[in-house]
Formats: sequence, C-alpha cells, structure tokens
Amino acid sequence: MDPQIWWYVTRASAIIAWTLMVVSVMWGIALSTRVLKPHDNPGWLLDLHRWMSGLSVVFVGLHMFSLYMDSYAHFSPADLFVPFHSTYTKIAALGAWPIALGVLCFYLMIAVQGTSLMMRILPRKFWKAIHYSSYAVVLLVSFHAGWSGTDTRAWVYRIVALLLVLLTTIALIVRILFPKSAKTLSATVEGRRPNQLSDALTRLVVSNVVPVADGIVAFDFVKASDGTLPVWVPGSHITLHLPNGLKRQYSLCGDPADRNSYRIAVLKSPTSRGGSEWVHENLQIGQAIDISGPHNHFELEPASEYLFVAGGIGITPMKAMLEALPARREWTLLYAGRSRASMAFVNEIVSEFPNRVIVHADDEQGGRPDLDALLRDFKGQVYVCGPEPLLNALIDRVPADRLHFERFSAVDRGSEEVAKEFLVTLKRSHTSFTVPADRSLLDAINSNGGALISSCGEGVCGTCEVRVLQGTPQHLDSVMSDEDKDSIGVMYPCVSRATSDSLVLDI
Ligand code: FES
Repeated sequence: MDPQIWWYVTRASAIIAWTLMVVSVMWGIALSTRVLKPHDNPGWLLDLHRWMSGLSVVFVGLHMFSLYMDSYAHFSPADLFVPFHSTYTKIAALGAWPIALGVLCFYLMIAVQGTSLMMRILPRKFWKAIHYSSYAVVLLVSFHAGWSGTDTRAWVYRIVALLLVLLTTIALIVRILFPKSAKTLSATVEGRRPNQLSDALTRLVVSNVVPVADGIVAFDFVKASDGTLPVWVPGSHITLHLPNGLKRQYSLCGDPADRNSYRIAVLKSPTSRGGSEWVHENLQIGQAIDISGPHNHFELEPASEYLFVAGGIGITPMKAMLEALPARREWTLLYAGRSRASMAFVNEIVSEFPNRVIVHADDEQGGRPDLDALLRDFKGQVYVCGPEPLLNALIDRVPADRLHFERFSAVDRGSEEVAKEFLVTLKRSHTSFTVPADRSLLDAINSNGGALISSCGEGVCGTCEVRVLQGTPQHLDSVMSDEDKDSIGVMYPCVSRATSDSLVLDI
C-alpha cells in the first residue's frame, strides 16, 4: 500500500466533511427561515439537513482516524482528542491553536448531533442553544483548515475553500436578515413526529382529583411504574386512551419541571360525545389509565412581548406558559368566561400575577371584552385558546405571523370539501391506491397497510399528521393556520383530501 495513502485520505475527508458541514448549515438555515418558500419542502429540507450533518461527522471521524494511521504526521489519540496537546504547527505564531480549534469543533459537532438525536426528550431551549453552536463550528473549521491545512497553496483547494467561506457568509447573512423561523420549524416539522406509525402508551395512575371551577375538575397523574415521566413544555397536551375506546386530548397545566406528575383540567362539556363525561364520572384516585404524548402544536415561541387571550377552559395551556416566562418578560393575559365561578384557576392566577391579568366575567362586566383596545399599538405575539368566536375575532384582527392558536373543536369545512377521487402513493411502503370520493384518506391509508394512528378523527388534534412529498392537499383540518397550510408540507388525512389528481406521502 502506498505509505502516503492515509495522508491523501486525511486531506480528502477533511474537505468533504467541511463541504457537508457548510451545506448542512445552509439547509438548516433554509429550513428555519423558509427563504425558498414556496419552492421548498420542509420535510425534504429537514431530512437533507440531518443526513448531511450526520455524514459530516462520519467524515470528521475518518479524518481523525487517518491522521492517527498516518505514520508521517504522528498524531496520537491524545493529540486528536485533547485540545492543545498536539505540537503540530504550520504557522509558528499561532502555536497549538489551529489543531485545538479542530478538536473543539469535533466536540461541538458531537454535542449538536447528540442533542439533535435526543431533541424529543430535551428541553427545547437547551437543544436550540447547543444547535446554534453549529454556526460557530463552520466558522472555526474555516480557521482550522486555513491555518493547519497543507494544501492551501493548491489553486483547486483555494477555490473550494473560498467558495465554502463565501457560502458560509451568505448563509449567516440570510439567517440574520430573516430571523423569523420559528413557527414553521419548531411547531411543525421538528417538533412533531415525522409520521404517526406508532405512539407508545404510558400507564398512569390518578393521584388526585380536585374541582377547580363549576363543571371543571383537575386530575393529577403519576406513573404506574418506576421512573420519571416524559418531559413537556408549555402548550403540550396528552391523549387519554379511555377504556370506552375514545381518545381525548387535554392540555397539561401543571409544572413542566415536575417529572413525577402530570396535571390536566377537564370541563364536562354539555355536548360531550362520551369523552369529558366519562372522565368526570369514572376517573377516580388510584385508577390506572393509558396516555400517549405529550405532543405540542401550540408552542410558546421566544418574543419580547406577549398577549395571551384565554376563553373558559382555554386557560389550561396558557397557565403553564405564564408560569414558564421569565419574571421580567412583558405579557398580559385576558381571561374571559361566563362567571368567575366557571373560570378554572382564576383566583390563583390573579393572585400570582396581580398586575398582568385582565379578567372579563360576562356576569360582571357584560358584553364582550374590548379586543381592539387591547390590540391597539400592540406589536408582540398573540396566543389565543378558547371558543371559536373568540378565535375568529383574533384571527380577524391579528396578522397571521403574530397569532398562535389552539382549537378545541373542528371548524365546519364541509362546504369546502371537493369530493373527488384521487391517487395516493405511500413512498416508503411502495404502495399506490385510489381514494374514492366517499372515503377518508386516513381510512384508505390504513386499509392499504399504512397503520397510521389517529385520535379525534376531526382534524383537531394533529395526531394523524403525515408529510406530503408531492401533490396539492386540500386542507380541511382545524390544526394549522391558513398561512401554515401552504407552507409546512404536512396534512391531516382524517379530514383532508387532495385537490391535485395524486398525492405522494412520506409513509
Ligand atoms: S386524528 Fe386528530 S387530526 Fe387527524
């Protein structure tokens, strides 16, 4: 074997790893800013971003291994893994810094990859903070390559290096100029499961039952077996799998830091179809019940100022949000209900945040809350959860990019439905079939081997979400805002169909 082979491998793997890193960061920025919208597909962007970054780590590993194998360079394991241990220098004035930067980048890459693999169980802020260090990695790698590489005099290398530095600079400028990421990236593609082929159940036991308002009862749950509960962030919900076969989603309203218990509050709905009624009449202390989740379609995004609008039981996701915000963050809560007696946690919230909460009880003030006065000159993010008229009032008044909402019930979209048949291809299953005009897409998928899980069956809960790879869905769900429907690249087949003649789904 040519004794120089490892030296060639070292140089080739370094430049491939660097290229993959830069392209991965560019893809990540395209995903988070959506600057290519509407010509992109978030699902593909995310997959490519992940594959490229994973592959870059593989080539970095090869780069280090070949340095170790190269008998001329003499890199020991300590040189490769301990910053400032190597005595190799190309520019005497810089000493051990260029190689140390390379070692540091290696650890940062491992941290970014590791936290990305565990992102579903990590606090989102922690994951983001680590993930942002990938910008530092691409910059530091440029210095590592320029200061320690041996090919810097070759014109091909110089052109490639300049191109990579240029692309890195452009990507970072795009990231700075288009900081809005957010809703699209976090609340959809990354924060959700890629598809819903499985959803593990956790068995919980009811540990406490407390009435918190007229017709509203709070239930605390602990795990039936040893161990802690999955982490959750404000806005998350769990799905109760009731013994009568129904599945119902309820927002978590306890303390996200408490890994030993979950709390939900359930309103006994006068129009209950068996869910809240069963929960109120049957769920007692000591009783075991299966849940899935937590999942989150109503995530609290970073902002300098918030307006929260809660109607009735819509306070449940908001309560955890208010308690999670730093004390110095600006926010106001409008909490509306029929009467104080029917408003869960009202006294607790008012006494905890006396100057930030506006309570509108119909039987005290009468009429509707003055939303126009609240929204006048307000430029922050608006979160709303409550009955449909309240949601619609906010949708009419607040630009879509500042409005975040969660629905309790499905919007009636019956008149929008185009009842025509269309062809569906399940890309991963290599299956194609026709969905008749009178059959739901979810039903058709599951009859053709898809095994998608679902819950509400009404396009409200988001459980049946699938990624769309090709074709134009007809979105009939109540999960996404109209703006997101055209941009996110997912659909809810329990209610949604296709306007195009065919769809390709990532199943
Ligand atoms: S099952 Fe709830 S959105 Fe489809």
